[in-house]
Amino acid sequence: MMRTLAQNLFDQTFITDSDDKVMPDLIHQKRFQDDIEVAIANCSGGWSISQDLARFLAHAVVTLKSKNILEFGAGSSSLVLANSLSVSGGGKLTSIEQNPVWCTETWKLVNDKENVDSFMIVAQPKLSLGISGVYFCFKDCLEDIAYRGLYDLVLIDAPQYFFGRDGAVPIIYNYLAPNALIVMDDAERYNDRWTLFRWLRSYPGLKLVYYNPTFTKKGLAILRFQSRKSPRFSLVHWMTSLQDTGSLLLSPGANRQRKGEF
Ligand SMILES: C[S@@+](CC[C@H](N)C(=O)[O-])C[C@H]1O[C@@H](n2cnc3c(N)ncnc32)[C@H](O)[C@@H]1O
Repeated sequence: MMRTLAQNLFDQTFITDSDDKVMPDLIHQKRFQDDIEVAIANCSGGWSISQDLARFLAHAVVTLKSKNILEFGAGSSSLVLANSLSVSGGGKLTSIEQNPVWCTETWKLVNDKENVDSFMIVAQPKLSLGISGVYFCFKDCLEDIAYRGLYDLVLIDAPQYFFGRDGAVPIIYNYLAPNALIVMDDAERYNDRWTLFRWLRSYPGLKLVYYNPTFTKKGLAILRFQSRKSPRFSLVHWMTSLQDTGSLLLSPGANRQRKGEF
């Protein structure tokens, strides 16, 4: 019943007749300097971002002259972001990562960039409660997130689907720079589309400026932070979050994966 009510609102959420002029310019196949191209080529397989998303991010950093980036989920994407920052004059990169061991080698290369101030926050997603619902969230790193802000570009590529990604926006909303872009990978997935719906309903300062469910088969969503409006509560979206996080908590497969039993 609640889901049916929400579904009508949900269907309207993904109509993006955006007047945002930046987006079409960013989705194209420009070539970059060598070290950015090497980092893009390194984005292959496993849980890495796709090469098309890597190229989009490099283009965003260079064209929009990003200076302060926050990333959920370190790895190949970190090197693309660091090299792009470096080429465009330097800046700050903060990455939230659960398991720094898996990307030690890549992170060394990120740290070696002289004009990039890189910082990895190691944290675990914990069950949390907020205005947009019930979700897993890296809530222990709020102090570091605040200290390193304000961010003009955010990439959301973690935690994995068996945690859900609802917890990202609640902890960054107060630390976004005017006009910041939030880039969400895997936006085609059922749960992640509902996550987007809840963010847009709960955080009225955000606007969906690009949504393409077929971008590199995984889907891509881009939100723009337009203005600092107060978050708002709605029972309908809150209940869908309870249902979705509840399903993850009740799923034996998701529970095994959260415990690291792959
Ligand atoms: C989608 S991945 C993030 C990938 C990263 N943005 C990139 O482009 O490489 C989400 C999370 O999965 C975990 N992960 C990915 N690959 C892993 C591996 N091979 N071993 C252990 N954990 C991994 C990491 O904690 C990572 O932050």
